[in-house]
Amino acid sequence: MIAVTARAHTNIALIKYWGKADAALMLPANSSVSLTLDQFYTDTRVAFSPQLTADTFSLDGVLQTGAAVAKVSRFLDHVRDMADMDLRAQVQSVNHVPTAAGLASSASAYAAMALAASRAAGLQLDHPALTRLARRGSGSASRSIDGGCVIWHRGIDDESSFAEPIAVNPALDLRMIAIVINHHAKKVSSRAGMAETVATSPFFPAWAQTAEANSQEMVAALAGDDFKLVGELAERSALMMHATTLAANPPFTYFQPGTLAALQLVQTMRAQGLPAYTTIDAGPNVKVLTTAEYVDAVADQLARHLDNPITICAPGPAARVLQEETVDD
Ligand code: DP6
Repeated sequence: MIAVTARAHTNIALIKYWGKADAALMLPANSSVSLTLDQFYTDTRVAFSPQLTADTFSLDGVLQTGAAVAKVSRFLDHVRDMADMDLRAQVQSVNHVPTAAGLASSASAYAAMALAASRAAGLQLDHPALTRLARRGSGSASRSIDGGCVIWHRGIDDESSFAEPIAVNPALDLRMIAIVINHHAKKVSSRAGMAETVATSPFFPAWAQTAEANSQEMVAALAGDDFKLVGELAERSALMMHATTLAANPPFTYFQPGTLAALQLVQTMRAQGLPAYTTIDAGPNVKVLTTAEYVDAVADQLARHLDNPITICAPGPAARVLQEETVDD
């Protein structure tokens, strides 16, 4: 048998995915656009073996049990179906994120697993098929198969809901600074939060419609040289997503006091002439989008006014196979 190790980098959405049209197929309510980051990634080794009676999964060297393994097993079932085989697998993942960054991500995890597991099962998936497989693990993982900026097309069925890289004008030279507000695991997962929002928030239909249009606008903006337009679209998408949770029943928010403090600081910096815009996922941490020209000045200001750790990121590469080993059956 072949054991395959793959690496995938995490991505941060500039136009958010928030809500599913089909939870079983993992089809989103809207298309989304992201930036893959160079600093945060997951390495995953997968080995199928006739000697295993169950799938095993270790994360950062710790053997997982219960729901964590069941989720990985359900994902591997898709791979087994596609490869028409029934072997169990040993899966070992290591997250490479700065200590306590609070940025461990299902996007890099399932993108790396999709690449490693499909290869270890003997599949040679074409690019759209690989992004569709990653999507079955976690929606945002579909966008971590590629580097740079990526669109995940909403699609109307399994076949048409895939991700692909998009052209970015070199003049934009994007950078993203991750600010850790709180590194503890969030109380409401993305999956649960978006399901609650779809089920109860009257803002959700408006969100899905606006986000679909914004994705197309973002693709056009990234091809141009107007960073202000890219930044405004990104910040607005994040705030609209968070507005849907405030309107859910019961209402909830991922914001913490430090989240708003960072948001306001960036808005003040912008008023003073620094091109910087925020984006916030399903947690309290804030990411700041800027350009290579201004990234040091923005980082200086953040360090001066906040106590929180920051990490400066550039666009990251596509997922890739690190190693293929022949192992004994
Ligand atoms: C706020 O991809 O983690 O980060 O598909 O249920 O696994 P599942 O959710 P996930 O959700 C990501 C939500 C987000 C926005 C985004 O990355 O687009």
